[in-house]
Amino acid sequence: MSEAGLDAFIAGLPKAELHLHIEGSLEPETMFALARRNRLTLPFASVEAVRAAYAFSNLQDFLDIYYAGASVLLTEEDFFDLAIAYFRRAAADGVRHAEIFFDPQTHTDRGVPFATVADGLLGAMDEAARTLGISSRLILCFLRHLDEAAAFATLKAAEPYLDRIAGIGLDSSEVGHPPSKFARVFKAAGERGLRLTAHAGEEGPPAYVHEALDLLHVCRIDHGNRALEDAALTKRLVEAGMTLTVCPLSNLRLCVVRDMAQHPLKRMLDLGLKATVNSDDPAYFGGYVNDNFRAVAAALGLTRDEIARLARNSFTGAWLTDAEAAPHLAALDAHVAGVSG
Ligand code: HPA
Ligand code: ZN
Repeated sequence: MSEAGLDAFIAGLPKAELHLHIEGSLEPETMFALARRNRLTLPFASVEAVRAAYAFSNLQDFLDIYYAGASVLLTEEDFFDLAIAYFRRAAADGVRHAEIFFDPQTHTDRGVPFATVADGLLGAMDEAARTLGISSRLILCFLRHLDEAAAFATLKAAEPYLDRIAGIGLDSSEVGHPPSKFARVFKAAGERGLRLTAHAGEEGPPAYVHEALDLLHVCRIDHGNRALEDAALTKRLVEAGMTLTVCPLSNLRLCVVRDMAQHPLKRMLDLGLKATVNSDDPAYFGGYVNDNFRAVAAALGLTRDEIARLARNSFTGAWLTDAEAAPHLAALDAHVAGVSG
């Protein structure tokens, strides 16, 4: 298939996005608009200066600027505007379902109430369902560079919202903050009926992926790239049918891979791993989900069938019931068969 044909195939492919930090969808233009609205001064002269600062050599470089950027988010309206902009952009990429992470501690530690954040995001999720036909789930992430007590306090703050929060995630600086640090708070979250996922094996070693499985009892792994260094772990992930939420452009921008031709996504598929394609922090890493599909498809020479498999994995790995996933899978089949779905 020609590159243009493959691009059109990707553009029209129904898909779910399972690894998206909503704070990472804050485009520089929005950052400036919110700073103006909230009468804040940014340490950048222009949108171009912000974009120029997005040259990262590792995860921490990015996180420092990502947390600074999030400081313009103050009101419920700010969180609503942030999220609805993401949903509009995702809808244009054929995303039919999105499971979005948020980092409440980034905001509550600045004095923004948990309710302000949650009400804004949930309002946008309702609006996206109504006006764009996108369903969504909210995933509360604990910041792993903070301590266990802070995670427990966040779970307590979330108590009034637990019926609208689908699950718990674990993000921020990975190395030095192993999953074991959060075993007890993940257990408490699981007992409240929340689903569990964790970033593991992005920069951290395969042992962290083992810990996420054995100590946190996650049902998805976010990233998981470094699991491939451990053959027994890879076999375990294949046999468990564990979904990996892989983020190619993020991996490139954070120097997890040297160039896209070295990206492990095709190897993951060849090994039978249930990989998906996601944008992670699209405003910071140079693209939304279709940009990620196009970049890996071109660099790794993915076939139409492989691309369709990635999209299929996104629906079967989503926190949807079989009945909720079925129409998406049917639309995907119709698209693959050449019928507009
Ligand atoms: N890794 C860890 N923490 C994050 C990321 C990521 O890719 N994006 C936002 N927070
Ligand atoms: Zn992430």
